Amino acid sequence: MQRGQFTSKFGFIMAAAGAAVGLGNVWGFPTQVASNGGGAFVLIYLFLSFCLAYPALMAELIVGRYARANAVIALPMLTKKPWLKNAGKAVGIAGLLTVAVILSFYAIIAGWLFSFSLAPIVKVTGAIDTSLWLTDFSLSRNITFTVIFMLATIMIISAGVSNGIERWSKRMMPALVAILVLLICYMFTLPGAMTGLKHYLVPDFSLVFETNIIISAMGQAFFSLSLGVGCMLIYGSYLSSKENIVTVGIWVTVIDVGLAFLAGLLIIPAMYVAAHYGVEIFDAKGDLKDSDVLIFTVLPALFEQMGAMGQVVSLAFFALMSLAALTSTISLLEVPVAYVVESYQVPRKKASWIIGALITLMSLTIVFNFEWLFGLVIMITTQYSQPVLGLFFCVFAGWVWHRDQALSEIKKGDEHASSSLFWKIWPWYVRYVCPLFIIIMFVHALTN
Ligand code: PHE
Repeated sequence: MQRGQFTSKFGFIMAAAGAAVGLGNVWGFPTQVASNGGGAFVLIYLFLSFCLAYPALMAELIVGRYARANAVIALPMLTKKPWLKNAGKAVGIAGLLTVAVILSFYAIIAGWLFSFSLAPIVKVTGAIDTSLWLTDFSLSRNITFTVIFMLATIMIISAGVSNGIERWSKRMMPALVAILVLLICYMFTLPGAMTGLKHYLVPDFSLVFETNIIISAMGQAFFSLSLGVGCMLIYGSYLSSKENIVTVGIWVTVIDVGLAFLAGLLIIPAMYVAAHYGVEIFDAKGDLKDSDVLIFTVLPALFEQMGAMGQVVSLAFFALMSLAALTSTISLLEVPVAYVVESYQVPRKKASWIIGALITLMSLTIVFNFEWLFGLVIMITTQYSQPVLGLFFCVFAGWVWHRDQALSEIKKGDEHASSSLFWKIWPWYVRYVCPLFIIIMFVHALTN
């Protein structure tokens, strides 16, 4: 069977950056900034993204391109020892399962974002009841929009790599940046925005070495770059050998971090603007309110205050969030689909619909048991599975795989790779620094 490949470097970077940029950036990051000391969190996050997450991302991309296969096949290829082969396979499968669960809760949130983006349009037509239904939390609304979002994802994935993923990411990513920049410019003209900007950009240096903040920033960096679940590995497997994989990885990281930074630039000042208009942004203890309250209550309240213009801004904002979520749900579904296509020779279309349907059922199970299941699956996948699996990916790239093979893979797109700064640092970095950091993060998560 002909393996899909991205047709251009730009297409690849847009697709991989699109996979990385999602709810983690536009929702997770600003929220974490708000609840973890503002500028200090931003500073640590920037540092860890480049010094820790980037090397881990490279491990996945390089292994993926070398193996030209999904993680379940790729990790066993790095060794000749049977027990290590089995271990690699187990890590790959655990990644698949994690991805499926992540997608099942992600689609629910993405569905809310989409329904919120439709609300202002419906309101203009005068159908007030429908617009209220779109923004109120209800079983029927949740079911409808989870299913719609899953259908959109399945349709793109069933079209394949260059027709589906690449084509859509090339359109959606630039649109995302444009909407974000426009919104930021507008937000800056509103009263209160500058107080928020200061909170965002001026770090409180006494917080920079706070363990809790470092740990949160690290988890955020890993989630945001989609690490540890074989997602970036799959994208690497579709990258042409001619490309310089080291710079491609830097681009993906810069775009991911850049978009998180932009999202913060919009949302943190927006909260203070909301406060200026009398919207409650602090809870009883004086802390900034929680994430879901932030996006689904505070911001709509702000848009409401802004009159007709507010409806336009609201549409742009939630459409933007839906786009960011869609490029990520695509990447999430691609992981299990690629596995079934490659390991069981099932046609891509069929695999996409069957797996998509199964994950939709999982999503609906969460929707029906929202109270106790929703938070639980988010915690298990993002706080536990992702860090532990990320650790194993680094161990496979750093300890199990032979250095020379890694080098010759990098050399395919850059003849001078062996004398590069990257090669002087990266091999021992993924071997020691990354695993150690992840272990600390994991132990911390367990003891809290
Ligand atoms: N990186 C995505 C985001 O920031 C989430 C994600 C995690 C996607 C793991 C794929 C795999 O929203």
